[in-house]
Amino acid sequence: MKQFISVNDVTDINALVKKALAYKAHPLLDKELGADKRIGLLFLNPSLRTRLSTQIAAKNLGMEAVVFNVDKEGWALEFEEGAIMSGNTVEHVKDAAPILGQYFDILCIRTFPSLKNREDDYSEMYINQFIKYAGVPVVSLESATLHPLQSLTDIITITESLKQYPAGGTRKPKVVLTWAPHIKPLPQCVANSFAQWVNAWGEADFVITHPQDYELAEQFTKSATITHDQDAALQDADFVYVKNWSTYTDYGKVYENDPAWMLTEEKLKATNNAKVMHCLPVRRNVELSDEVLDSDHSLVTKQAGNRVWAAQAVLAEILQAAK
Ligand code: CP
Repeated sequence: MKQFISVNDVTDINALVKKALAYKAHPLLDKELGADKRIGLLFLNPSLRTRLSTQIAAKNLGMEAVVFNVDKEGWALEFEEGAIMSGNTVEHVKDAAPILGQYFDILCIRTFPSLKNREDDYSEMYINQFIKYAGVPVVSLESATLHPLQSLTDIITITESLKQYPAGGTRKPKVVLTWAPHIKPLPQCVANSFAQWVNAWGEADFVITHPQDYELAEQFTKSATITHDQDAALQDADFVYVKNWSTYTDYGKVYENDPAWMLTEEKLKATNNAKVMHCLPVRRNVELSDEVLDSDHSLVTKQAGNRVWAAQAVLAEILQAAK
């Protein structure tokens, strides 16, 4: 693996899942693989899980991890080619990224979208500029439109849960991605990325449900069944992935916050005793009720724990490719 920006960088999803689960069973299996290698984790936005799980994963592989909170501690970066830098930005990415490429063997970046201009966000300029100028493998810690480490974690979590709670017979598990209310506009990254990975994985009956006007980009939803009827979507579901996202077409808006879309124990009665997933952080009793989050339905803690093994599998693939 030369970089990890989306599912398109993965040749075999199930093999990567298997590798991650091997690390879960034996965290120090490849403790020398990253010896004498250094990884830079650049955050232009906040994080709890991504930051800590990637640091732990790097340590398990023998790497030294350096975290740099660019948003708080760094110079304000310019990303536009040919920019006249007479405003607030101080350093161009084409100057900063090659330096980071000398300091680090792998560069990991978190950059959120502006949610102001869809074309700009969907061009993925920030992460693409790092890829262009760093000269070392780049790993997305969540970009403007995708969150691949989260999505790999999600497939890992579904795979290991299926061993414990099989869908029944030979049928594919029914996986439902449901929109949830939130108090402010959020990126589409997690939903886009989850859809992209589940489609590429191809081992689920995949349904997406959201209110009207919250359609996601078709490049990610592809052949998924899409419905505005959440109750119908939940029928016989094995996994329910809960996530808010803002509007895509009329970009970055929240039109409604209908609390009726919040997943409750009552709604779960229609499912096949479904397991409930969320990438976290979650706004309790807005996106998901306490009763669901604190019940046996919830996989969210296990899911967040699996972030370590997803990151470790990806970093190991990159280190092995560089040997
Ligand atoms: N799910 C996730 O990416 O969490 P953080 O924002 O805390 O990293």
